[in-house]
Amino acid sequence: MHQLRAARIDELAKLTELSLQSKAFWGYDAALMPGCRASRAFHPSDMENSQICVAEGDNALLGVAQLMFDDEIAFLQRLFVAPANLKTGIGKALFGWSIKAAHRAGAQRLLIDCDPLSAGFYQRMGAREEGFVESDTVPGQRVPRFKITLTPCRPVVQK
Ligand SMILES: CC(C)(COP(=O)(O)OP(=O)(O)OC[C@H]1O[C@@H](n2cnc3c(N)ncnc32)[C@H](O)[C@@H]1OP(=O)(O)O)[C@@H](O)C(=O)NCCC(=O)NCCS
Repeated sequence: MHQLRAARIDELAKLTELSLQSKAFWGYDAALMPGCRASRAFHPSDMENSQICVAEGDNALLGVAQLMFDDEIAFLQRLFVAPANLKTGIGKALFGWSIKAAHRAGAQRLLIDCDPLSAGFYQRMGAREEGFVESDTVPGQRVPRFKITLTPCRPVVQK
């Protein structure tokens, strides 16, 4: 069982570790991990510049998602599930939060530049592949970009 809630500033260091452990689960070479640490670390400024949601269960952090915004585009900056809790529905729940939060914020598109090994997950979640972009972790590596088109909220018509 897990619950979703907003991240707190005092748990950003734990969320950085969770993200790195989750990324390492794919079996990347240890030489890549310092680059991952630099690009995956959470900073206090993230609390103001982004929306961060955590999945929590039994007083432990089980997953994290982070959304950033640029006009009408929302970026799923991070989505990580703790290795011991993979394939238990937490990624799907956090992805659902991302869509709702992006929609609430008025975004028209949600973009995801993802690890190639997680591409199947985003396909399963209904995202459409939109080509490739340069990785922010490994210089020169291209990673898949996925897109979700968000339906604008319709105004409620009062009768
Ligand atoms: C990708 C990730 C977030 C998925 O989270 P998860 O909690 O394991 O996924 P869920 O249990 O919610 O799975 C939801 C569905 O997607 C499927 N799925 C999960 N990971 C998948 C994958 N890598 N490829 C294909 N399908 C996948 C599940 O089987 C499930 O299918 P179902 O609806 O038919 O039951 C998780 O594997 C992860 O954190 N990976 C390591 C870090 C990473 O690469 N994050 C993404 C960075 S872009």
